[in-house]
Amino acid sequence: MSGNDARSAEELGRLVPVLFGYAAFQQLNAGSQLGLFELLDAKGPLSAERVAEELGIARRSADVLLLGTTALGLTEAVDGTYRNGPSIAAGFREGLWPVLRDIVEFQDRVSYLPAGDYTESLRTGENAGIRHFPGTTRDLYTRLSGVPGLEELFYRCMHSWSRLSNPVLVEQTDFSATRRVLDVGGGDAVNAIALARAHPSLRVTVLDRAGALEVAERNIREAGLSDRVETHAADIFTGAYPGGHDCVLFAHQLVIWSPEQNVTLLRKAYEAVEPGGRVLVFNAFSDDDGSGPLYAALDNVYFTTLPFRHSTIYRWAQVEGWLREAGFTEVGRTVSAGWTPHGVVGGVRRAP
Ligand SMILES: C[S@@+](CC[C@H](N)C(=O)[O-])C[C@H]1O[C@@H](n2cnc3c(N)ncnc32)[C@H](O)[C@@H]1O
Repeated sequence: MSGNDARSAEELGRLVPVLFGYAAFQQLNAGSQLGLFELLDAKGPLSAERVAEELGIARRSADVLLLGTTALGLTEAVDGTYRNGPSIAAGFREGLWPVLRDIVEFQDRVSYLPAGDYTESLRTGENAGIRHFPGTTRDLYTRLSGVPGLEELFYRCMHSWSRLSNPVLVEQTDFSATRRVLDVGGGDAVNAIALARAHPSLRVTVLDRAGALEVAERNIREAGLSDRVETHAADIFTGAYPGGHDCVLFAHQLVIWSPEQNVTLLRKAYEAVEPGGRVLVFNAFSDDDGSGPLYAALDNVYFTTLPFRHSTIYRWAQVEGWLREAGFTEVGRTVSAGWTPHGVVGGVRRAP
């Protein structure tokens, strides 16, 4: 009963990263907030003494932090000095560190405490973690404006989540025959701007809540794309979708709502898009056999506890089924070539 025979010890040992999952994230979070990874990227390898000096923390704190980050592979110890480990080094090499840092901040300031309400959310079928954000509405988006600075934080970090994952939309999806995209729930225009940059004749309309569009309009202006990217304030469920588009995009949108709501949104898209035009659904997907991937399985704690009571990372085949139910044909999927389980499911409104 001791669990000390070799096989049981090895099997029980696999519990360590899960049992201490909260602590693993806090090692990454502390390294990010204190500037450890930026320091090692700029000046590493460095001794623990130098790390302590440069970060302005006690030597004991540096030792604790470096033990944590090194045991997790976020840093590496070489001859008494420390440098970034492969995953962090790859983030810097690819110019993605600012994006990853925003995502760590999102997990810290938005996802982390509500994750403690996961069991309650499963038990009740409600997004119980929303209690951490003041307000009476049932979805996170309508509560964002109730906390000073939260809207800015949310859209800045959502921007980074999209930048991390949108190459499958921007680079792997064919827009050569597309004229004008309606980006439903387009947020701060991160995908609209990326699409307009990548496809010089493409026009995009970002439809979202007025609060999000303030940020979107600033970003569009700063990107110098006001002539090709415009905004349209409307509710995605109750508002009319503006006409004249041959593609309707739902980016990180159908993960929020129930299957019934998603079919409603896709039917609205079917009515809005010109015959011969298409719908694109871009977000993370889970495997059709329900076995993973790990990213989707763990990200689902956020979706279960926070955005809305039905939010979840759906399986590819479910989303493809909704497109057919809404009337789209030629339904197909594009799987991201990157490390996240993102992809695009598309379908065509057949010309009469
Ligand atoms: C997860 S964010 C995705 C933003 C952007 N599409 C992206 O991929 O980064 C969901 C977006 O839907 C918008 N949204 C949620 N409910 C909405 C509603 N009822 N009407 C209009 N926009 C809504 C939010 O304001 C937010 O910008």
